[in-house]
Amino acid sequence: MEKSVVKRENWGSKIGFIMAAAGSAVGLGNIWRFPYLLGENGGAAFLLIYLVFVVFIGISIMIAEFAVGRKSNRAAVGAFKSQSGGWTFAGVIGVLSAFFIMGFYPVVGGWSMSYIVKSFTGLLGNPEAIGGTFGAFITGSTQPLIWMLAFLVLNVLIVAKGIAGGIEKAAKLLMPVLFGLLVLIAFRSLTLTGAAAGLSYMFKPDFSAVTGQTWLAALGQAFFSLSLGMGCMITYGSYLNKKEDLVSNAVLVTGMDVGVALLAGLAMFPAIFAMGMEPDVGPGLVFVVIPSVFAAMGSIGTLLSIIFFIALTVAALTSSVSLMEVAVAYFIDEKGVERKKAVYGVSSAMGVLCVLSSLSLGAMAGFTIPGLGVGFFDLFDYITDKIFLSIGGLLLAIFVGWFLDKEELRQELTNGGTIQFGLFEAWHALIKYVIPVAIAIVAVAGIASIEQTGLMVFGLLIIVVLAVFSKKL
Ligand code: PFF
Repeated sequence: MEKSVVKRENWGSKIGFIMAAAGSAVGLGNIWRFPYLLGENGGAAFLLIYLVFVVFIGISIMIAEFAVGRKSNRAAVGAFKSQSGGWTFAGVIGVLSAFFIMGFYPVVGGWSMSYIVKSFTGLLGNPEAIGGTFGAFITGSTQPLIWMLAFLVLNVLIVAKGIAGGIEKAAKLLMPVLFGLLVLIAFRSLTLTGAAAGLSYMFKPDFSAVTGQTWLAALGQAFFSLSLGMGCMITYGSYLNKKEDLVSNAVLVTGMDVGVALLAGLAMFPAIFAMGMEPDVGPGLVFVVIPSVFAAMGSIGTLLSIIFFIALTVAALTSSVSLMEVAVAYFIDEKGVERKKAVYGVSSAMGVLCVLSSLSLGAMAGFTIPGLGVGFFDLFDYITDKIFLSIGGLLLAIFVGWFLDKEELRQELTNGGTIQFGLFEAWHALIKYVIPVAIAIVAVAGIASIEQTGLMVFGLLIIVVLAVFSKKL
């Protein structure tokens, strides 16, 4: 039933892997999504819950995903399947999550690309109109579609080139640029008069506004931002050689991811408060706040805005290629499809989903899917963030904690006993007992409080159907 992997691609270097894994983690999730979620969920309390999840759940799951990938030498589906056919569905949920996330991610990637050009062409000239410009742009139909397609084409070009040639090279070059830029912008934002209010919003928790939804939003964001719960880090881990220290890599990648999210927050919230804007405006936040900050800076602002949106586009790109790779690797590993063909097929399907979600904000705005109560953009976002990723993480923890041999895991994580992992027992107990229970509690409380019950039923139904039919996949 299983195909033997003849010669598997590998990362070109240690730094290449770290950059690619960090490139996958650091993306729109950190710079576009994290700040607006923080803004919508009341600031510091959300940040605190999010950090607790990252430290106690995120790092452990990332270690587990790396171990599963490298141990099995297979991408998401194959890794689960190699243990037992009954587990195939857990990997398939991941592949489906990749399709769904790629059903809206390139739309936002396209917005970011267009803002590179808009920064040139007068966006900053009229600061009052910046909010309106964003609204008019995303509700238009053709422009966002064209930019989305352009973004998707970049993905195809990179993923078609394969692991070391494409993804790794792009990430190695572009991640450090992004980091440097954010430091620069955060510095600028923090030195504005009135910036302190933004800092206290970010760091002084007010727990009165915390609900079941807040917990689920924080958990979903932790998974989304760290690229966990859908086999992405399994897939990247599967291209990793046996000498790497998986644990320290996971800690490093998580540290970089959180660092960039915090930097993005520091770049935005002090400015939001200094300029008298509202923190809870939702998905438009980065596209309105950052240009507004730059607009006040004259012509250097234009330059910085251009560089910022280049960096955001790059961050989005190194993440979206990893999402595409999850689906592509499935067809290569499990179906024996040639890489280029897999890329063209997968990206076309993703393109169709993106057209739907882009139009759901434009020509089809106001249309909600019967029975689900949301448009396509929100459907793909909610279903992955609120349901699939947490359940994917839960399944992975159960799989690793209860179905994989503990000693084999110890061997994998210590490279056959040649390196130390002093906290192995604690990690194993977390994965086996604490994390499944914690995710289950948060997921049940959160999923139960999703307003669109239709959406919840739909998401769970997909999982049940997959569980029943996945043996054929
Ligand atoms: N981590 C990415 C971000 O924060 O933008 C998004 C993502 C990439 C999610 C890969 C999941 C994934 F497998």
